[in-house]
Amino acid sequence: MADLSIDFAGIRSPNPFWLASAPPTNSGAQIHRAFEYGWGGAVWKTIGAPVLNISNRYGSLTLGGRRMLAINNVELISDRPLDVNLREIAEIKRLWPDRAVIVSAMVDADPQAWKDIVMMIEDTGADGIELNYGCPQGMSERGMGAAVGQVPEMCQLNTHWVTSVTKLPVIVKLTPNITHIVDPAHAALAGGAHALSLINTINSVTRVDLDTLLVSPSIGGRGTHGGYAGPAVKPIALNMLTELMTDEGVLRSGVPISGMGGIATWRDAAEFLLLGATSLQVCTAAMQHGYRIIEDLTDGLSNWMDDHGFKTIADVTGKSLPQMSTFGGLDLSHQSVARIDQNKCIGCDLCYAACNDTAHQCIDLVSPDGVTVDPGYDMRTNGRQVADTRPRPVVRENDCVGCALCANVCPVDGCITMVTVPSGRQSITWDELTAQRPEIAQSWAAMQAYREEVGIEIH
Ligand SMILES: Cc1cc2nc3c(=O)[nH]c(=O)nc-3n(C[C@H](O)[C@H](O)[C@H](O)COP(=O)(O)O)c2cc1C
Ligand code: SF4
Ligand code: SF4
Repeated sequence: MADLSIDFAGIRSPNPFWLASAPPTNSGAQIHRAFEYGWGGAVWKTIGAPVLNISNRYGSLTLGGRRMLAINNVELISDRPLDVNLREIAEIKRLWPDRAVIVSAMVDADPQAWKDIVMMIEDTGADGIELNYGCPQGMSERGMGAAVGQVPEMCQLNTHWVTSVTKLPVIVKLTPNITHIVDPAHAALAGGAHALSLINTINSVTRVDLDTLLVSPSIGGRGTHGGYAGPAVKPIALNMLTELMTDEGVLRSGVPISGMGGIATWRDAAEFLLLGATSLQVCTAAMQHGYRIIEDLTDGLSNWMDDHGFKTIADVTGKSLPQMSTFGGLDLSHQSVARIDQNKCIGCDLCYAACNDTAHQCIDLVSPDGVTVDPGYDMRTNGRQVADTRPRPVVRENDCVGCALCANVCPVDGCITMVTVPSGRQSITWDELTAQRPEIAQSWAAMQAYREEVGIEIH
């Protein structure tokens, strides 16, 4: 059985799953129960500056019947008294010495304010500190959270104020509300951070109620922007993770990354690990389903690791990263085409509509007796007026550019497969090509000449 334990910048936990700093980690009683269920660690709901929370704090995105595909929150940091939080942190660490207890903190951009909170956290016996430079709502208007994470100089300075007064491992939690995530990461490292975590929530307005015309969540008739999280943000989080894990500066520093943003299943977790995360944080999925999901997360990950022969989390971390490339490093000669398994096809024609209307018009509808439906026919009749029996989609492979739109819209798993076919061209990347023939990037005539030379026909 795979060993799920991790050592994250000196913070040990029996499995890589930590509850993220958020409502699931709001109190000692909650975290105690979460640990009983088997969570490997918890990042305490951010403590620090005095706040007053408002009532009606969450909105959410329901799509295609799936509820809470994303949550939007206008919640601030912990509004419980500081001394109560600190007392409970100490108690939890005493009761659960083998679990990771990390305390998230956020105070004014002032060295003394940071020193004071850090000293209080150290006294609890917690394993580490996470600096919350991420929340995009409420606190950022007061110069904290994302307001720090968005300005690398502030990020470095605040981090330095903390790392210079504590021996505890310091994790800097980055905001995704920034164009280039590597800049604040470098700043955090320059400030002495021992680890990074991402992503915090994305700035958003999720919904307007079409009956009441109220922006959701509506706080006494007024709305505001909030932080967006949950399954819908996973691709954004994975991209930011890979941006960090393919950056020379971050790699050279050797700091581990705690990944989060949309982790709801063990499959999501495995993807974050494969792209370089060492620990994994979960918030929205726990808010939707409760602490019990930890059993599925650990069992699923452990079984998958056994199936693949991975013995430790370190064996998985970053395994898929070598595939990551810039566009300029991709092989221009690679050719895929769509293949349809007629035994699985249910004849919905979604692939046909997608290719015909918005891709490259290379799926024909062919009736069983071989009649090809005129592509100009009225889709709404499903070809019945043209062919005697319901026609089937057939890909003209020579014309298929391999965009994969049809495979993405097809509702039947495994019905359309993208298959690699020989292109007959020599392997070459855009970077190699333009290094050899720079004129190709400057002139359409030179581009056309190259295409004719190697036999690329675009229609
Ligand atoms: C309601 C709510 C409150 C949150 N509060 C905090 C917070 O106090 N401190 C913090 O660092 N992140 C906070 N977050 C962000 C989460 O820790 C996490 O970064 C984010 O939700 C992405 O993970 P997820 O997709 O698993 O929810 C909050 C998120 C939600 C949904
Ligand atoms: S891969 Fe793209 S071009 Fe090829 S059949 Fe599908 S939609 Fe059309
Ligand atoms: S989308 Fe899939 S199921 Fe529907 S017609 Fe095309 S191949 Fe068949």
